[in-house]
Amino acid sequence: MMFVAPLVSLVLAAFVAAAPADVYSPPITYPTASTVWEVGYSYNVTWDVSNPSKRITNKIGMIVLAKGGVLNDEAPLATGFSILNGKQQITVPDVTPGSDYSIVLFGDSGNSSPKFRIIA
Ligand SMILES: *[C@@H]1O[C@H](CO)[C@@H](O)[C@H](O)[C@H]1NC(C)=O
Repeated sequence: MMFVAPLVSLVLAAFVAAAPADVYSPPITYPTASTVWEVGYSYNVTWDVSNPSKRITNKIGMIVLAKGGVLNDEAPLATGFSILNGKQQITVPDVTPGSDYSIVLFGDSGNSSPKFRIIA
């Protein structure tokens, strides 16, 4: 019996450490799979902030455009906003039209939108 209690707490500690409770990764609500963006126009990217984690490590957000899943992190669409805003206006850069674009919202971790279309 002497050895059981320490073992149980060790196992519990391992589970607590593995739980991703501190990572705040709000789901993107716009753009969606049916979104079409036009080069040069502005849109509000939105995400769900209804259930924020109590301890957010990094509240400063960044929005990056990806094509075919490849991030263009050299030219983020927006930086330096609060991840708690739930919304950030961006302007679509002069990119090649395509239907394999997505955006990734970074805060504590990254969350990707579905693929959507950008037209010229
Ligand atoms: C984005 O949201 C802001 C604040 O609600 C609003 O003033 C602005 O017009 C919106 N931008 C677009 C492109 O809809």
